Amino acid sequence: MGQNAPFYHLEKLPPKREVVETIAVLRQTNRAATALAELKGVAGTIPNQSILINAIVLQEARGSSEIENIVTTQDELYKALTVNKLTVTPATKEVINYRTALFHGFNLLENQGFIRVNDIVGIQQELIDNTAGIRSTPGTVLKNDKTGEVVYTPPQDKQEILDLLSNFIHHFNQNEPDLSPLISLAILHYQFESIHPFYDGNGRTARILNILYLILNKLIDTPILYLSDYIIKHKADYYRLLNQTNRTGDWEEWIIFMLKAVEITSLQTIEKINKIRQLLEQTIVKVRLHSPKIYKKELVELLFELPYSKIEFVVNHLKVERKAASRYLKEMERTGVLESQKVGREIVYINKELVEILKR
Ligand SMILES: Nc1ncnc2c1ncn2[C@@H]1O[C@H](COP(=O)(O)OP(=O)(O)O)[C@@H](O)[C@H]1O
Ligand SMILES: [Mg+2]
Repeated sequence: MGQNAPFYHLEKLPPKREVVETIAVLRQTNRAATALAELKGVAGTIPNQSILINAIVLQEARGSSEIENIVTTQDELYKALTVNKLTVTPATKEVINYRTALFHGFNLLENQGFIRVNDIVGIQQELIDNTAGIRSTPGTVLKNDKTGEVVYTPPQDKQEILDLLSNFIHHFNQNEPDLSPLISLAILHYQFESIHPFYDGNGRTARILNILYLILNKLIDTPILYLSDYIIKHKADYYRLLNQTNRTGDWEEWIIFMLKAVEITSLQTIEKINKIRQLLEQTIVKVRLHSPKIYKKELVELLFELPYSKIEFVVNHLKVERKAASRYLKEMERTGVLESQKVGREIVYINKELVEILKR
């Protein structure tokens, strides 16, 4: 089985307008756009944007990697980011690479206002610790995880891959006039996965590009949409619909799937942000009331920016002496805002209630 990989020729973008802009697609586009606009507004109400960005980027990194069966826990990740020279599992390392790659892409976009093919190669290199770059040797096929059956053969010829990528990036940077960028998002994601330009890391690179595309089109301001959560929950559909589009060239179901992902994830993220804001406000009140001598708004915000904290972080961010930083953290442990834990040679202070909200 699987020796004769089915071959479906991959067309360049754009697909014909009438096959992507069906009535069902337009209806779902409205729902997704409304939810996303609300998210953009709600996100803006959080005083310190790093709180959301840090939290959601890490979750997205974990979720997107989990789709590829690279699995780690939130606790392990935060510890790896907090404690110096901690020995971590390869999966944890890969998820942290993902986070670096996403921030790398975000900064590129902020500075340049567009993305080049080379930038995509750079993002993929941050993810995967090798410099193989774009595929130049044939042999890459996509298989069904369970049966091993070959389900799709991406283009094998390097020149064809490069042509398709340059067509892709043109459409990435410049949306079709009057076509909703959310519809384009679905088309672009499919296209990138189907070009499958790398030996590995295609899924994750493409999911980073999704977030960047939303930012490029000003649908959100920062990387705070955790789409991979939806994809994990509907992984079988995700694969089935990519496949179906390969075979039939029928876009509708795939586009609706991605639009639903945007809608549902936006609504869930709004809920999460509201909970984070409530907890932040409660914590400010609590520290003011129980520990007026050490109360500083920036201190409380820091514990939300870095839910796993330590003396060094407080010293660096608040520019205070070690002794003062240590006193602040201990005082907040006393009042139950933080819980301490010895990890390796260091003591980390955990904002447990926030971590619980982020987990959900
Ligand atoms: N039939 C298909 N057509 C296009 N893309 C597919 C198909 N099946 C799976 N994919 C994509 O391939 C990705 C896996 O490719 P891979 O290079 O291993 O990426 P990663 O290492 O990030 O998992 C999946 O996440 C999915 O997005
Ligand atoms: Mg892989």
